[in-house]
Amino acid sequence: MSIKRVGIVGSGIMGSGIAEVSAKAGFDVVLRSRARASADSMVAGLEKSLAKQVDKGRLEASDRDAALGRVRAVTDLEELAECDLVIESIVEDLPTKQQLFDDLDRLVGDGALLATNTSTLAVVEMAMRTGRPDRVCGIHFFNPAPAMPLVEIVRAITTSDDTMAEAREFAEACGKSPVEVRDQAGFIVNALLFPYLNNAVKLYEAGVASRDDIDAAMKGGCNFPMGPLALLDLVGLDTSVAILEALFAEFQDPNYAPAPLLRRMVSAERLGRKTGQGFYDYRK
Ligand SMILES: NC(=O)c1ccc[n+]([C@@H]2O[C@H](COP(=O)([O-])OP(=O)(O)OC[C@H]3O[C@@H](n4cnc5c(N)ncnc54)[C@H](O)[C@@H]3O)[C@@H](O)[C@H]2O)c1
Repeated sequence: MSIKRVGIVGSGIMGSGIAEVSAKAGFDVVLRSRARASADSMVAGLEKSLAKQVDKGRLEASDRDAALGRVRAVTDLEELAECDLVIESIVEDLPTKQQLFDDLDRLVGDGALLATNTSTLAVVEMAMRTGRPDRVCGIHFFNPAPAMPLVEIVRAITTSDDTMAEAREFAEACGKSPVEVRDQAGFIVNALLFPYLNNAVKLYEAGVASRDDIDAAMKGGCNFPMGPLALLDLVGLDTSVAILEALFAEFQDPNYAPAPLLRRMVSAERLGRKTGQGFYDYRK
C-alpha cells in the first residue's frame, strides 16, 4: 500500500479518533492542532483511551506503546509536507475548510491524497481549491471513530478511480467497512439520520414528550442503542446545526431547517458532551 504516513488536521472529537484508529492500524500519524495545549491534550486523551483498552484486555501493552510511538502531535501545518494522505477534520465550515485545502495543496507532495471528514459539505468545493481535484475525496468516519465500523468514501465528480481505490484500501487497513457514495449533501447516513434527529428536537420543543421519554421510546421501540437527544449531544450541537444547514442549503426542504431550540442551545454554548451540557448534563 502506498500510504504510510497519514496527516490529520484538527484535534477535536473526530480528529483524535481518526488518529487513534490510524496509529493502531500501523500508520505513522502526524496530528496537527493549532495550539500546543490542544496537541498535548490530544496525546493525553490518546494515552488514556489506549490504557483503558489495555486494562480491559483488548490491547497488548506493547501494541499500545507502538501505537503511541507512531503519533507525532504538531502545531505547524508544514510538518504535514511528507504525508501520503492528509485527512482534514476541522470545524464544519466550508470557507474554513477551503482555506485549509489551499494551504495543504501548497505544502503537501504532488502525489499525496487529500481527504475531508466533512459530514455534509460538498467535497468538490474543497477539491477545486487545489491543483489536484482528482486526488481529493471524502473519507467520512463515524463517531466514535475507534468503535464505529463504517467509513463513507465520497466520490466528488473530479475524484479519480485510483483515489477512490486508495481511500478504500486505507479504510480497510484501518479495520473499517467502507461504502462508496456520491458527493451529495449528507451522503448516505446523515441524509437519513438528520431529519430524524431534527424532528426529535421539534417533538421535544413542542412538549409532545419529555427528553427521557423521547430517548426511551426510540431505544425501546426501534432497538436503537441511543435515543436521538443523547445522540445529538454525542455529535455536538454546533456540528449538528452545521449539518442541517448544509442539507437545507442543498435540498431547500423545510424538514432540514434546524429546529429553533438547536440554535438557541448553540448560542448558549450547550454543545453537548464536549462542553459538558446539552440536552443532558455531563458535568457531574
Ligand atoms: N461529531 C461527529 O459526530 C462527527 C462525525 C463525523 C464527521 N464529523 C465531521 O468532523 C469534522 C470535525 O468535527 P468534530 O466533531 O471533531 O468537531 P470538534 O468541534 O470536536 O473539533 C473541531 C476542530 O476544528 C478546529 N478548528 C476550529 N476552527 C478552526 C479553524 N478556523 N482552523 C483550523 N481548525 C479549526 C478546532 O480547534 C477543533 O480541533 C467536521 O467536519 C464534522 O462535520 C463529525
